[in-house]
Parts: sequence; structure tokens; C-alpha cells
Amino acid sequence: MTSDELSYDAEGSTEMKVSLIVPTFNERENLEELASRVFAAFNVAGVRGEIVLVDDSSPDGTYSKAEELSKQYEIKIISRPARLSLSSAAIDGFRAATGDIVGVMDADLSHRPESIPDLLAPLIDGESEMTIGSRHVDGGSIDSSWPISRKIISRVAAMIAKPLTNIRDPMSGYFFVTREVLRRGEDKLNPAGQKILLDILVNCRPEKITEVPITFAERRMGKSKMSLKTILRYSLQIWNLYNRSGATPARYVKFMIVGAIGTAINLIVFWLLTGYLPELFFEHDRFLIASFIAFMVAVTNNFLLNSYWAFPDRRGIIHIQYGQFVIASLGGLAINEVMLKLMIDAGFHHMLSQFIGILMGSSFNFIVNLKWTFSLRASLRGRNARG
Ligand code: GDD
Ligand code: MN
Repeated sequence: MTSDELSYDAEGSTEMKVSLIVPTFNERENLEELASRVFAAFNVAGVRGEIVLVDDSSPDGTYSKAEELSKQYEIKIISRPARLSLSSAAIDGFRAATGDIVGVMDADLSHRPESIPDLLAPLIDGESEMTIGSRHVDGGSIDSSWPISRKIISRVAAMIAKPLTNIRDPMSGYFFVTREVLRRGEDKLNPAGQKILLDILVNCRPEKITEVPITFAERRMGKSKMSLKTILRYSLQIWNLYNRSGATPARYVKFMIVGAIGTAINLIVFWLLTGYLPELFFEHDRFLIASFIAFMVAVTNNFLLNSYWAFPDRRGIIHIQYGQFVIASLGGLAINEVMLKLMIDAGFHHMLSQFIGILMGSSFNFIVNLKWTFSLRASLRGRNARG
């Protein structure tokens, strides 16, 4: 039976076509079982499916085995001249894939093909835009025979990816996504990476994601390809994703330096106004008014320094960003003033009270400005406005 007939014979006879990308390096011994289990699973799911095998000239003869199997199953083979990154294998697979739904899976049967129907169901129903095989949701698990070193590496790797996404298992290599969502960020995917899922999550922004519990089984044949090189590739990919999201260490340090300069300016202006020019103010509101003027001078200074030094790549429409920066800072100021008042009332020296107020207010500012004033979206808006 050809797979064309399958789509009509299958229950519900859906028109959906699924492309499953399987990167391979020395997986000859796994291919036969892989193909038979995957196509059985496609059948259960009631879809028309193809496997897109991306082989990096495996010396063990993976290619010829795949060619042999392609007479029996709908298998497309992409043969690459050398071992390239895992992310680039998936990207090359996406290009060759013709499905409405596209997925990725390992060849070593660590990802059980029998989970395919569960992974496809939410996509076929239109309930989700992406499904991820997860080891870390209820019902998911890992075959415990991993050596402790492998477990630790996996834990640490997952930890550093956490701030980039809400997904419970962002390291998964087993997932499906609609072609439509993939298209949104396909050309932004980083081919030098290791975990294509992370890049898709950040660049394609799928909205409805379902994490489906899976059991990650121990590979049966062949060896894991994890090496120092894969760890390095992963680290570089994470570094790039962090850079894209704007939270670079360099930026953080610059922001803090600007904050310190602003604090110094604030304190000097405050000191001048309260100490040397007291006749300008009504005695009663002296500290409050001095604090406000010091704030406005410092805020303008900080805005300019931040937008030209800490966030030069995030400059948008300047008056809007200045407005946002002032609003964010007003929030910080409110926190500053409340602290000032509370501490002065409690009998602390007004200089110390102001200093603590600034510290608390500026921490608040940091977060708001990073996520709002100098967001990626704000800089894109600026780019569009400039044409
Ligand atoms: N084309 C190509 N080129 N394929 C490769 C390469 C390569 O350089 N290196 C590995 N592969 C293929 C393998 O043949 C296998 O099908 C799949 O990629 C995963 O490789 P493994 O070596 O089995 O990976 P692993 O078991 O260490 O890692 C798995 O576990 C992670 C979870 O901790 C991978 O599935 C990851 O995707 C998964 O996130
Ligand atoms: Mn494996």
C-alpha cells in the first residue's frame, strides 16, 4: 500500500500531511525499526506522513540503508557532505519537508514513535500550534540509566535555557509544529545551534503549545553523539539567544554604571538644592522638591546615556522612549519618595534616606526599561519610523 492510499484508508481520512525530520549520524542499525514504527504510528494518527532523513555522510552506511528502506516507505534522504550542526540538519529538513505539520525526532528510538499520535492530535484538532514531547510534565520520564555526569550536564543546560521560555522541557528534541508557525521565523533560525526547539520558540513565537508527556528511552543501538563540541555549540546558541533578547552581561553592567552616574548626579543636585539654595523653597517641602528636581536632572542624563551607550541597538522613537523612560522612572521615584518619607520619619539622616530610596527605585527601573522602553519591539518600531 502506498502512503497515498493510506490517507484515504485511515480513520477520519484527514488530508493533513506530516513531515518528520530525523537527523542521523551512524544510525544504520536503528533505521529499519524506526521506519516501521514511525509509519505504523502515522497510520494510527490517521495522517499521511513522510520521513525526511538528514544524514551527514555517516561512515556506517546509514545512507544506503535509508535508500533501501525508501523503496518501501515514503522517505526523503538529504545527504550532506560533512558533519554539520544538529540545528542546521533540522533546518535543511524543514526546507525539504512538504507537510502541513513538521516535526523533529531522534533516530535512536529514544523518542518512542508510539507517542506520535498523542503529539499530533492537538495540532490536527487545531487546539495547538506546537506540541513538545516533554520528560518533565506529569506522566513524562527519563530512562534512569543515564550516567550521573550526563544527568548533571542535562540539568545545567536546561537551567540556563529557563529564562528564555516557559516550557518545562526546552531541551527536548522531539516536537511538532505547524508549517504556518514555522514560516514566521524560519529565516531567523540559527544554523550553528544545537537545540533547534529553543530557536523556534524564540523566533517563531508559537502561541498555543501543548507539552505531551513522553518517556525518553535509552538508545538501544549505536552511541550518543554528545561531545564537547555539542556542548560548545549549545553554549554559543544560548549566548546568541540571550543577546537577541537583550539581556547581555555587557548591557547589564553598562546600565548599572549609568545608574551609578545618575545616582551621583541626583545626590549632588539634591545636596546643592537642600544645602546651598534653601531660600528657593518653602521650608516645609524642601526635601521633597529638591528630590524631585534632582530626579528630573538625573533621569534625563540616564536616558541619554542608556540610549546611546547601553541600548544603542534598541533606539526607537526618541520622544516616545524618553516618555516611557520618565514614566518608568516615576514609578521608581514613587518608590524612592515613599522610602525617603518612611526613613526620615523613622529618624534616619535625609542623605541616607535618599540614597536607599534611589537604590530601590532604580532596581525597579532596570526591569521596566529592559522589558518596555528598550524592548526589541520598540527598536523595530523606531527602525520602521526611520524607514
Ligand atoms: N545529521 C546529523 N549530524 N545528525 C546528528 C549529528 C550530526 O552531526 N549528531 C547527532 N545526530 C543525530 C543522531 O543520529 C540522533 O538521531 C540525534 O541526532 C540525536 O543524537 P544523540 O547522540 O542520540 O543525542 P543525545 O541522545 O545525546 O541527545 C538527545 O537528547 C536530548 C535531551 O537531553 C537529543 O535528542 C536531543 O535532541 C535531546 O534534546
Ligand atoms: Mn540519543
